[in-house]
Amino acid sequence: MGLEPFTAEDPIFLDEDVLRDSHKPEDLIARDRELEEYQAALKPVIKGARPRNIFLYGQTGVGKTVATEMVMDRLRKDQENYDNLDIHVVHVVCKNLNSSYQVAVKLVNEFRDTNNKIPTTGYPPDTIYEFLWKHLREIDSTHVLFVLDEVDAIGNDDDILYELPRCNDNGNIPVEETKVGVIGISNKFTFRDNLSARVKDSLCDEEIHFPPYDANQLRNILYQRAENAFVDGVLEDDVVPLAAAFAGQESGSARQALKLLFKAGDIARSRDLKEVKEEHIREAEPKVKESQVRNELESVPTQSHLTLYALLTLEKQDSLPAKSSDIYDVYEIAANRIDTDVKTDRTIRDRLSQLKLKGFLDVEEHNEGPKGGSYYLYEFGDIRPNMVAEVLRDVDRLDDLFQTEITNY
Ligand SMILES: Nc1ncnc2c1ncn2[C@@H]1O[C@H](COP(=O)(O)OP(=O)(O)O)[C@@H](O)[C@H]1O
Ligand SMILES: [Mg+2]
Repeated sequence: MGLEPFTAEDPIFLDEDVLRDSHKPEDLIARDRELEEYQAALKPVIKGARPRNIFLYGQTGVGKTVATEMVMDRLRKDQENYDNLDIHVVHVVCKNLNSSYQVAVKLVNEFRDTNNKIPTTGYPPDTIYEFLWKHLREIDSTHVLFVLDEVDAIGNDDDILYELPRCNDNGNIPVEETKVGVIGISNKFTFRDNLSARVKDSLCDEEIHFPPYDANQLRNILYQRAENAFVDGVLEDDVVPLAAAFAGQESGSARQALKLLFKAGDIARSRDLKEVKEEHIREAEPKVKESQVRNELESVPTQSHLTLYALLTLEKQDSLPAKSSDIYDVYEIAANRIDTDVKTDRTIRDRLSQLKLKGFLDVEEHNEGPKGGSYYLYEFGDIRPNMVAEVLRDVDRLDDLFQTEITNY
């Protein structure tokens, strides 16, 4: 069979981009309280006072980023009514940035031209902070607000969340010239609890919680988007409620609900159908779930990737479930092979429990009787090892591991 001609004809989607994350809805559904708290927390800024630091938290897909963009847009617009205000917002996504150092470099580069960026390694940390203070001292704005989105990526290495909020207090940035505020956004509840006490003190002036959506709210979010995304009348009545019910039950995430709806539409379109039906949502559901798991696997830190790699190696040799000490032995070889720092076995045990929390691993406790003590055995949880292998193969950092297998340890 030859190729079909490409045609722009599309009986299903009017504009599928409307279902994407990057599309900004006109208004937010069921987020009145959160928006009110957000605006109240930023009120001092518009009065010319020092910003309070804000910490936003809630699972992924509950509107943290979109709410922030809306509030910042509004702030930028409303400041025009005040001559003495010039608010500069720096919004960075920290996903994939695993340390305060990397975040600081990214922030420095936000102030620099393309041909003047600094590299992500090489400078001592103090120098990076000095660069940052210098840029802040040079900028003419009355206020700089740093939005650190998905900041939980930095884990326990939270120095930047201490340094940034206090740069006005310790004289690095004269407060009469530029007032600095930090808005930290986290997808993880545990991240806040694990922040060091000094960070909690400075960062969490205001905390705003974004709870998951229920099926009702998700339905309204989907209807709002579907109107502009789909050709009139192609969605069977049950489609949106079912997508909302699935997402409501599983995650309460608007992102997941939108993905389900898009995927269902995509399935119908690929079969030249004129309608999206309930069965397409059912078919889309496991696919969307799998792609979410893949994304999550991709975005864990390098040390977790190496830990997963160690489990894969053990799995191939039928040695799972395994003790953390056995996993560590393989990990150590793997870490050396890709030339990364070899962390302590304690760190790897932490990684193992993180991976367990995410549902990637199962753990079983073994008791050796009163004298023998107890230990944990790890194996893959509700994911296919093959899929883990596929994901790891695509991680550039790990290329060297897939050239030859690790067999002796
Ligand atoms: N209350 C809402 N009303 C309309 N759309 C929403 C709402 N909450 C989230 N969305 C949409 O869901 C998707 C995920 O939201 P996002 O803000 O990126 O979530 P988070 O940052 O919490 O992971 C985006 O496409 C966003 O536009
Ligand atoms: Mg987000």
